[in-house]
Amino acid sequence: MSEPADRRYGPATVPTARGRLSAAVVEALRRPPRDLPADLGVDLDPADPITDEDLQLTLFLCYELHYRGWLGVDESWEWQPTLLALRARCERVFEAALRRLVGAPSVPAAGVAAGLAELVAADDGPSLAATLQRRADLNQFREFVAHRSVYHLREADPHSWALPRLGGPAKAALVEIQTDEYGNGRLDRMHAELFRGTLDRLGLDSGYGAHIDVAPAVTLATNNLMSLFGLHRRLRGALLGHLAAFEMTSSLPNRRYGNGLRRLGFDGVATRFYDEHVEADAVHEQIAAHDLCGGLVRAEPALASDVLFGAAAGLAVDRLFAAHLLDSWAAGRSSLRTPAPPALPPKVSLVASPEVAPPALV
Ligand SMILES: [Fe+2]
Ligand SMILES: [Fe+2]
Repeated sequence: MSEPADRRYGPATVPTARGRLSAAVVEALRRPPRDLPADLGVDLDPADPITDEDLQLTLFLCYELHYRGWLGVDESWEWQPTLLALRARCERVFEAALRRLVGAPSVPAAGVAAGLAELVAADDGPSLAATLQRRADLNQFREFVAHRSVYHLREADPHSWALPRLGGPAKAALVEIQTDEYGNGRLDRMHAELFRGTLDRLGLDSGYGAHIDVAPAVTLATNNLMSLFGLHRRLRGALLGHLAAFEMTSSLPNRRYGNGLRRLGFDGVATRFYDEHVEADAVHEQIAAHDLCGGLVRAEPALASDVLFGAAAGLAVDRLFAAHLLDSWAAGRSSLRTPAPPALPPKVSLVASPEVAPPALV
């Protein structure tokens, strides 16, 4: 539980509770591991689990124990049986909501790669990327980046849970993708570090988990979905399907995000994360659909529908995320839980050179 010397890489500070369940978990995590009340969460029945602040934060609190942990929290909480039981109750509700949202996608005769392509082609969500490219102002762009930082500062980590669960061609394909995500072992090329440069340039706190408190339930849900799939071996097909859909819908939006930042006057450090993904994900999408998901289904044909479920769920929750941002902005509101994302703390030293200030708003 010692304080890390460098807070850029986590652990994050325990977030503020958003309701009864998350309050019980936050309170418990402040102390040494002990049993939670046996009935905690047994009556869980939110109207919309995907946008329920208390449920999504509770899941996020539980899942983060398996990533970087929480600042000041005893690491033994990770496997505390009654906390795992509570997590399982939350997961049942969340997974059921995801399955209601997307149904059971059928696998076309042409195979799982064709099924993925069909899902992506039918993805008619609101174009957040077009708005960011053409119209979003600096504050809106900063909000978008704050939302996405919850994932991008640990980019690729949830999908790495699949590695020990795979063998053969699918494993080789996942290693190929993840190697790029992790910068081929070079810190300054890791995608998470490229994103830190974007945060720095936009004057935002680039510490790991710095924006969790301002991220609404739907943003946490886009992350919790990956953790749910990643931490359950039975959902390995869904995890790979999620990754494939992510890669297959990445190249064009990332070009637009980069162009949006250039329109606002930002330099190559700010846009590098997005520019990198234009090229990289054009390659990754092929590997992910054919070698990774195709390879998995050739080895384990029964997982084909899970692959498509994971892809459909990822796309659907991302549509909800995009709609939340666009609806908030159309109504003249912030899309965050507080009006502004946390600014860059003055004392933190950063990886990317932060000397160049973001352009002034005109
Ligand atoms: Fe990436
Ligand atoms: Fe990628």
